[in-house]
Amino acid sequence: MDIAKTVTRRTILQAGAVAAVGVSGFVPTRFAIGNTAKVKVGFLLPYTGTYAGLGEAITNAFKLAVEERGGKMGGREIQYVAVDSEANPAKGPENTNKLVTGENVDFLVGPVHSGVALGMVKVVRESGTITVIANAGAGAATGPLCAPNIFRTSFTNWQASYPMGKVAVERGLKNVVTMSWKYAAGEEALAGFEANFTKHGGKVVKQIMVPFPSDEFQANLTEIASLKPDGVFVFFAGAGALKFVKDYAAAGLKSIQLMGSGFLTDGVLKGQGEAAEGVLTTLHYADALDTPENKAFRAAYSKSFGKEADVYAVQGYDAAQLLVQGMAAVKGDTGAKPALIDAMEKAVIKSPRGTFTLSKAHNPVQDFYLRQVKGGQEIVVGVAEKALADPATGCKMG
Ligand code: BEZ
Repeated sequence: MDIAKTVTRRTILQAGAVAAVGVSGFVPTRFAIGNTAKVKVGFLLPYTGTYAGLGEAITNAFKLAVEERGGKMGGREIQYVAVDSEANPAKGPENTNKLVTGENVDFLVGPVHSGVALGMVKVVRESGTITVIANAGAGAATGPLCAPNIFRTSFTNWQASYPMGKVAVERGLKNVVTMSWKYAAGEEALAGFEANFTKHGGKVVKQIMVPFPSDEFQANLTEIASLKPDGVFVFFAGAGALKFVKDYAAAGLKSIQLMGSGFLTDGVLKGQGEAAEGVLTTLHYADALDTPENKAFRAAYSKSFGKEADVYAVQGYDAAQLLVQGMAAVKGDTGAKPALIDAMEKAVIKSPRGTFTLSKAHNPVQDFYLRQVKGGQEIVVGVAEKALADPATGCKMG
């Protein structure tokens, strides 16, 4: 879904200014002009490939949150433009530029893939475009590459995996195999798990990395069977996660505890069926959270889109909440960037996941739940880590 370049917003605004002078001699100020124009929100998300479902959920829920708030931000209507990132890191900078330069968006929302995020962050650090990362967990985006205009409503890869390291040891799992796709998200997720796991006395006996987005796991599952570990910790998401869990069960490995960050089951649990029974995960969200915000969100999402909400939808919903709060503070004046950023930094987000605030590095400080699939449902076992903040090593806000 690559929206064709039309007339840029600046061209429209300039044309509007000329027309206004011609009629009345009145020269509108920048804000007076901008206030009547629509706010342009650009989505850089995957709409094809293994992460397509994730991009769709973020887009749907972002729009839902805006609709629930009167369809406006800071009193201004919204125009959406979307570019399919294809979860392709090689196209990250080019696709970001389509939105930042080509479409002159006011706000950028996305991406899902950490590799795409790393390319995107380099572009928006230069352009200053206010960007909300609604999934990609790349640590660098709120670490060494952090910037005043870059925010995240999701997680870091470290955050979502670190809590399981301690849980695994507490459950008596001492020798574990780790496995993932070989790119930033997988590497950081496995490192986060391993840091906490070894700190508590566990041992990673083998790390297996496969190319992204391969879903040919058979040879690796045979190797895992021969290693006979106490447990297996993985990072997979989207269609790849659906297939991994099914293949794991089909390979006869169900007696070896399968663990992961919650992306392993979120959004794909129904498709995994019986194969997912018993899978243990940690995540900043769970379908079953018994709060008014979560219940209302899930009901509205399924009514609007005819499917169940998941963690990706929550992150998209909260990206919109963050921008709505920022825009309310500046009454829709996107030119008032320091005030807008200040309001976003101070935002308190009443999320379906639970209320959260942002760290100095602009990453959520949030609870991580321990979840287990029982009877086809994701059961909340407890809170594995309360108010966990990413260490944000190397972040120096300019
Ligand atoms: C990532 O690339 O950061 C990512 C993708 C899907 C789910 C979680 C993280």
